[in-house]
Amino acid sequence: MATPVVELRNVTKSFIEGEVQALRGVNLTIYKGELMSIMGPSGCGKSTLLNLVGALDRPTSGDLLIDGVNLNDVENLDLFRSRKIGFIFQAFFLVPTLTALENVEIPMFDSGFVLPQEKTQKARQLLIDVGLEKKINQVPTRLSGGEKQRVAIARSLANDPAIILADEPTGNVDSKTSHMLIELLRRINQEKGATLIVVTHDPLIAAATDRVVQMLDGQIIGEKDPKSLLK
Ligand SMILES: Nc1ncnc2c1ncn2[C@@H]1O[C@H](COP(=O)(O)OP(=O)(O)OP(=O)(O)O)[C@@H](O)[C@H]1O
Ligand SMILES: [Mg+2]
Repeated sequence: MATPVVELRNVTKSFIEGEVQALRGVNLTIYKGELMSIMGPSGCGKSTLLNLVGALDRPTSGDLLIDGVNLNDVENLDLFRSRKIGFIFQAFFLVPTLTALENVEIPMFDSGFVLPQEKTQKARQLLIDVGLEKKINQVPTRLSGGEKQRVAIARSLANDPAIILADEPTGNVDSKTSHMLIELLRRINQEKGATLIVVTHDPLIAAATDRVVQMLDGQIIGEKDPKSLLK
């Protein structure tokens, strides 16, 4: 039986005292080990949804369960997030003055998940896993877009998260690189068993996932067969 890892029950999210209703009653169950994508037009609420699932923010109403824990019952969102969630963003968000290795070590500091003496070895191994063994001590300005995103992917894995969230991870790279990145995410999904949720505008990226959820105007309007996106 598939185990639910994320459950949204009638979740809403408003901004500016209700002036903007970014999510309007979202129901969604995501199962352990899924590789899924979320598509929809600009402004439909994809990032808002991802930020809630990533415990960066709380719903305005409704219930959001992550790994069986209701976010409404979590006092310290930062600690909760750092133990369970890995993030990958379109703009990479690497610290420019730190090396690839140091960037990957960052999330390990607060989580208490990785022993201090094991941090460097673990970060090194993660960079090797994403094919960056030759760039371990390079600063981000000396890396290509695809390499920067691979550092960001390695960083997202720092604390062995149960859930990895990627918001337009291929938005800033060419199509060949984006294909390589989605293959890397697929491999991580398979090898580590992590649940992966990818927000994307790119039908080819969505087609490489196992399940495609379609959003419109703050709601989920249905799912698409990934294969149908290739036609
Ligand atoms: N912090 C905020 N304050 C006010 N309004 C916000 C905030 N964050 C998002 N919104 C609004 O909520 C709606 C959904 O935004 P969201 O960023 O989730 O869209 P999106 O689907 O990710 O779009 P895109 O594809 O352009 O990234 C938009 O109308 C946006 O302007
Ligand atoms: Mg967005």
